[in-house]
Amino acid sequence: MPIGIIGAGAVGQALAVRFLAAGERVVVSDSRDPQRSRALADALGPGLTAATVEEAAVEEIVVLAVPWRRLREAVRAAESSDWQERIVVDTTNPLGPGHTPAELGGRPSSEVVAGLLPGARLVKAFNTLPPALLGADPRTPAGRRVIFLSGDHPGANGRIAGLVRRAGWAAVDLGPLAGGGRLQQFPGGPLATLELILRPGAEALLS
Ligand SMILES: NC(=O)c1ccc[n+]([C@@H]2O[C@H](COP(=O)([O-])OP(=O)(O)OC[C@H]3O[C@@H](n4cnc5c(N)ncnc54)[C@H](OP(=O)(O)O)[C@@H]3O)[C@@H](O)[C@H]2O)c1
Repeated sequence: MPIGIIGAGAVGQALAVRFLAAGERVVVSDSRDPQRSRALADALGPGLTAATVEEAAVEEIVVLAVPWRRLREAVRAAESSDWQERIVVDTTNPLGPGHTPAELGGRPSSEVVAGLLPGARLVKAFNTLPPALLGADPRTPAGRRVIFLSGDHPGANGRIAGLVRRAGWAAVDLGPLAGGGRLQQFPGGPLATLELILRPGAEALLS
């Protein structure tokens, strides 16, 4: 099954590059200009299909890579999707106008996102690194670059951890959103913006 990506900006493109390098197929959608995802398909080859939000949103794993202020609009565009049991990967950071922290009513941001997607198994991931690092080969001479993830559904966390590892990163599962989500949340979480490299052999210590 291909991976649906909603948002063909810096993060969506970086993840498409890494997933394709891992042999996955991706279906990428953009909001205004389908030309952008078509150009991406031309540049990145046949594993990438340019699509509408609705089409990307039907995949079993759907990555949300849109700005926080456009989330509701993106979810509305995918409205015909039945999210039940499907995995949604939330890369978003809760930033309002002028990059000020969005008002979350004290909740972790991914709980707010999960509230927009009834029945989905939400996994927060890929939000702590800038796009240039996300799109770079995660296998460095010092070891594998770490991707943090968190979510309230261990099976979904496991599926995304598997995808993360197949794409070459080291996966660190921080557990449920209430704890782990807050740790990786930007702004404010202590793990946000950290680039960690797991030295060779150390991954066995995580399981
Ligand atoms: N930049 C970072 O350092 C970084 C790192 C990790 C995570 N994040 C988070 O990742 C998310 C994406 O960031 P980004 O840097 O990739 O932003 P970006 O470069 O501005 O790209 C956002 C993409 O989302 C698309 N989009 C907007 N509304 C949409 C909608 N309703 N339906 C479908 N696509 C829509 C935009 O398309 P149009 O331009 O056509 O509207 C654009 O292609 C944000 O929530 C951000 O906080 C950012």
